[in-house]
Amino acid sequence: KKDIRILAYESSCDETSTAVIKNGREIESLVVATQIKSHQRFGGVVPEVASRHHIEVITQITKEALSEAKVTWNDIDAIAVTYGPGLVGALLIGVSAAKAASMATGIPLIGVDHIMGHIMAAQLEDEIEYPALALQVSGGHTELVLMHDPINFEIIGDTRDDAAGEAYDKIGRVLGVNYPAGKTIDTWAHQGNDTFNFPRAMLEDDDYDFSFSGLKSAFINTCHHADQIGEKLDKYDLAASFQAAVVDVLSHKTIRAIKEFKPKTFVLGGGVAANRGLRERLEAEIGKLDNKPKVIIPPMKLCGDNAAMIGAAAYNLYKAGKFSGLDLNADPSLEL
Ligand code: KG4
Ligand code: ZN
Repeated sequence: KKDIRILAYESSCDETSTAVIKNGREIESLVVATQIKSHQRFGGVVPEVASRHHIEVITQITKEALSEAKVTWNDIDAIAVTYGPGLVGALLIGVSAAKAASMATGIPLIGVDHIMGHIMAAQLEDEIEYPALALQVSGGHTELVLMHDPINFEIIGDTRDDAAGEAYDKIGRVLGVNYPAGKTIDTWAHQGNDTFNFPRAMLEDDDYDFSFSGLKSAFINTCHHADQIGEKLDKYDLAASFQAAVVDVLSHKTIRAIKEFKPKTFVLGGGVAANRGLRERLEAEIGKLDNKPKVIIPPMKLCGDNAAMIGAAAYNLYKAGKFSGLDLNADPSLEL
């Protein structure tokens, strides 16, 4: 049986990445050019700056991915690329590069949904058994996704406003923490206590949606009020209180979804999967269940945006014969 090799591109936000993936499971090369430093002074990702950086590095890192994997275009069976959701200008750079490569080489093209990619990072770590459930939490996403099989996914819950990581970054700014703030807030949270009792939005609602803007506002108001009356609040307790509210809501809805849909595998992904409080809580809660799903948490370098996860997802689409034409276009609001 012949090995299937996929060259994958990812450029939906602030990382430009290329990878060569064998048989949907094995990373032969992975190159990630991050732009975090360029966006840090703005406190978030600036779309124009992102597009320019993608253009600057994409040709070079395509060569690097091939040479690191010790392969040439002749060894590649498909070219995969994220075509949405994301920043339109950023997506267009990857889509154009992939289409140009496909046209020049005649290698078939596969457009991949970014969220499907994130979830499929798990496939690089372990075998996913279906049906599966994924909690995808990052600076751009907060979704509960039911996976019927390797290519048919259904979003059962989503954020109504801010993504969880985005909320971390915004309250981090109030505390003077550099973007992205999640890691520092997580560390502080472990040194403080939940003394503020911030709101847990939609905790008792019977859907799987999330909302973090009320929590963010409550946090900011608390800090401003203290400022006005000249009171100094403990940053560790603030962090612990914020994190407790986020983790409560995320774990509560996840456990309820596991009970309802009885997945064989549970996947945690996205940058916020690094959060110690969230991991500990989910592991503890899943441990108490009667029908425990297998839990897969990809390593951190695969939780952030990267092309390896896009190559993994593309392999499943390849197997299902789901190729794209050269008219593939970036779709900033693509839905699974
Ligand atoms: O997946 P990712 O690298 O990029 C995208 O947003 O697509 O996620 C980055 C996000 C940032 O918002 C960052 O603050 C958050 O993940 N993050 C964390 C932690 N580490 C990173 N949030 C909470 N706790 C952490 N330990
Ligand atoms: Zn992402």
